[in-house]
Amino acid sequence: MSEVNNNATTIILFGATGDLARRKLYPALYSLYKKQNNFAVIGVARRDYDHDVFRQNVLESLQNHSNPGDDVEDFIERFYYYSLDVKETKAYGGLKELADKLDQQYDLQGNRIFYLSLAPDFFAPVTLNLKDAGLTTNTGWKRLVIEKPFGRDLQSATELNDTIHQVFDESEIYRIDHYLGKEMVQNIQVIRFANPIFEGIWNNRYISNIQITSSETLGVGERASYYDHTGALMDMIQNHMLQMVALTAMEPPSRFVTEDIRDEKVKVLRSIRPLTDATVANSVVRGQYTRGTMPNGDVVKGYREEENVNEQSMTDTFVAARLFIDNFRWAGVPFYIRTGKRMTAKSTEIVVQFKDAPKRPYFNNFNDLQPNLLVIHVQPDEGLSLKLNAKKFSTGGGSIPITMNFSNTNQDDGASAYERLIQDCIHGDSTNFTRWDEVALSWQFVDSIAKAWKERNIPLDRYEAGTMGPASSHELLAKDGHHWWPLTKTTEK
Ligand code: BG6
Repeated sequence: MSEVNNNATTIILFGATGDLARRKLYPALYSLYKKQNNFAVIGVARRDYDHDVFRQNVLESLQNHSNPGDDVEDFIERFYYYSLDVKETKAYGGLKELADKLDQQYDLQGNRIFYLSLAPDFFAPVTLNLKDAGLTTNTGWKRLVIEKPFGRDLQSATELNDTIHQVFDESEIYRIDHYLGKEMVQNIQVIRFANPIFEGIWNNRYISNIQITSSETLGVGERASYYDHTGALMDMIQNHMLQMVALTAMEPPSRFVTEDIRDEKVKVLRSIRPLTDATVANSVVRGQYTRGTMPNGDVVKGYREEENVNEQSMTDTFVAARLFIDNFRWAGVPFYIRTGKRMTAKSTEIVVQFKDAPKRPYFNNFNDLQPNLLVIHVQPDEGLSLKLNAKKFSTGGGSIPITMNFSNTNQDDGASAYERLIQDCIHGDSTNFTRWDEVALSWQFVDSIAKAWKERNIPLDRYEAGTMGPASSHELLAKDGHHWWPLTKTTEK
């Protein structure tokens, strides 16, 4: 069997009429099709579509995304639709027949990807139904792709995992964290480990603190009914933010291979100092936005005024936290993380703040000395910048901060995170997906915060939409003698 053929696959996509499929998955699949991947897609959803209506929908989603080329007709011909109530066990028989037929028709080597872009309550029943209908005893390889949230806490995630493992082996499960598909998140390891000048100082001797921000300008919009039961802690901290912490803090893996990399990430997650009810109160801030004015002048509603949000909602739309990683490399270095909706800018950045140079008596006249900062710009700009001090360009004394910038804009081939991740899945590379122990440790950490919020009278701090979060988020750093570095100005309007 040739390499190319072994990458051929049927993609059975549950949730094919959903928002994620339209906005992200179809454009990603179209790019993969252009890169010579051989696949056919069976879109599965409840609606009573036929193949043609479904294809038209796929086409429209591509047109909203870009100008599809002449090959788009051939591309959408590979899309088929199967209407199914996912809980109805008997109906899976027809799905199997269709999958078997397409397998022959497109020479897909019996390989199958089951992509569950569904509400998490359906993960377990769908997986079991796939097995009962014989869809998972295919002749080639099989892989399960699941979107988050993977459970609601450690216990429900464990139960879900046990069920899924009845059908799929851990090596066949691809848990998506789309941040792991982002160019600059993937770049963290290269920046760190391929540059001895950084790796040599990447520790508590030289680093004062690390700040990771992922801010959004959007509110909750149409996702309110999901979000009001989730909040920023589960929606962003449990997955994307802790993954970025793990990548920033991990030791070099013994080899750059999937399991070795994951092992190192797990060690970081295991070393995060556990939070108790008492320490949550002074290490974690929870916030919720109120009505305010966005930087573009739009006046926007407060969270509790949004449609489908409970008027008394205590859901967190913002979280800031201080973590410590109790290992040899990081002892004593605070990691500050923050994420929220309706903030000043859409931006994800990792700021590594180095320790100060000795100011006195050596630099008595250098009032402007700033700490060195290495900033990894994840989005919207992709790049890296390094802040240094240089002599003022004049005959007088003193220093000025200068910045060395690398910007990746224009160099990316435009591949989206989803395109990279689906391509990896087709190739059987699960490095940029989360392994079960990573998920479990992340839940354990997040659960300790959720428990304290529930059981202790910990305030929900309000912040005006269009700001960088509540005052308490700034106080969190101020009490350690630090402050959040302003987000880099971006090209975003
Ligand atoms: C998702 C969250 O995982 O990530 C959303 O569910 C959030 O609430 C999104 O908006 C942010 O992703 P990105 O790629 O736009 O930073």
